[in-house]
Amino acid sequence: MEYIINGGKTLRGELPVYGAKNCALALLGATVLTDDEVILFNCPNIVDVSNMIKLLQSMGKVIVRNGDTLSVKGELGSVCAPSAYATLLRGSALVLGSSIAHYHRIALPLPGGCAIGARPMDIHLDGLQAMGIDVLYESDMVSCAGIPVGTDYKLRFASVGATENLLCASVLARGNSVLRNVAIEPEVVALEQMLVRMGARISGIGTDTISVEGVRKLHGADFAIIPDRIVAATYLSAAVATRGEVTLTHCRPDHLRAFLDVLQPHCSVRCYGDAIRLSAPEIPCGYGEIVTAPYPLFPTDMQSLMLSLAACSRGKTIIRETLFENRLAHNAAELHKMGADIVVSGNTATVAGKSLHGADVVASDLRGGAGLVIAALASDGTSTVRGVEHIDRGYADLALDFNKLGADIVCKEA
Ligand code: EPU
Repeated sequence: MEYIINGGKTLRGELPVYGAKNCALALLGATVLTDDEVILFNCPNIVDVSNMIKLLQSMGKVIVRNGDTLSVKGELGSVCAPSAYATLLRGSALVLGSSIAHYHRIALPLPGGCAIGARPMDIHLDGLQAMGIDVLYESDMVSCAGIPVGTDYKLRFASVGATENLLCASVLARGNSVLRNVAIEPEVVALEQMLVRMGARISGIGTDTISVEGVRKLHGADFAIIPDRIVAATYLSAAVATRGEVTLTHCRPDHLRAFLDVLQPHCSVRCYGDAIRLSAPEIPCGYGEIVTAPYPLFPTDMQSLMLSLAACSRGKTIIRETLFENRLAHNAAELHKMGADIVVSGNTATVAGKSLHGADVVASDLRGGAGLVIAALASDGTSTVRGVEHIDRGYADLALDFNKLGADIVCKEA
């Protein structure tokens, strides 16, 4: 699939923001902790979530979708995650902690995901070993076995996925755990809150030190998946790139603070409850220096959006990517085809903003793909964005959403 984008249209209008991919994947992983029914509201209809559902179904979970609501229940018949699904998405790794906690074993093919850089799992596995779990690597498979025992463990880096797995392992562990230097991304906090609704005993929710009192059993619960802050940032970026005006509803402005702080000097941003109204009549004059870092600082997932915004601004921006080493270079090369002036040195891009023109570009990862669409919307002339399958992993229908705001995007089979 590819997008043919006639750029230069100003985007205006209102859109609701749907549920967050990375929250849905973490909560789906956590459903393995109980055989009871877990109901998830606001579940996005995106490819990564469908693949995670197929993975859990293939392992024995009974999952029924009714609109945006998912019902998940039942025991796992197999604790061996089939590679046909597990290798399709990084989120498949999020069954590790919950399977160990409930079934005391799991075999997981090394998970796939975006081509954004090395995605090691040493922190997940080191933390599990600290809980007394045996970990064995065999070719592309990791096998874990044992009953988790409460421990005091400091993550060497505040990894989102490792935090989620270690939390899930600790809630049914024998004894108490303290997890230090954990991630505090909103998706992690949502997981902590859902685990409490399932009967887990957790204190320090939302902070970087979590104390967990292991319990014998968890039960069913219902929980609403939080709005996708990266989808929200994508819509806002499109408005800025096209000098437009959008209102987003059903979002969490507080989850977008670092991103909004970067935009605020250049546009009018108003937040009202769960809505954000952004108006960007002028072309921004460069965004200064942006460094990606764990929450609450500037998110790596919004870096590709920012690179495109910087490329079509009228000033200088420096962007340093500290989390995923391949995230800058590919998009910088594609944006060059649109006339962008970006010099990449190691993990730093120095961008001199200018007007862009249409070109044929290729997405190689989800957020990078969205960034290329933003650049194409801002460009004069027609662009083709190939590799839309990467974009569909995390966006329900990006072209349709932008067309609702006045964009001119046609989807074509490649
Ligand atoms: N890291 C290690 N060892 C580990 C785990 C991580 O060195 O055991 C490193 C990674 O290589 C990376 C950094 O730690 O440099 C951050 O990785 P993290 O573990 O926090 O990321 P993740 O859990 O694999 C999630 C999201 C990503 C998002 C990152 C950072 C999910 C399914 N994925 O990945 O989302 O970029 O956190 O916020 O939750 C996306 O949505 O497009 C996406 C890639």
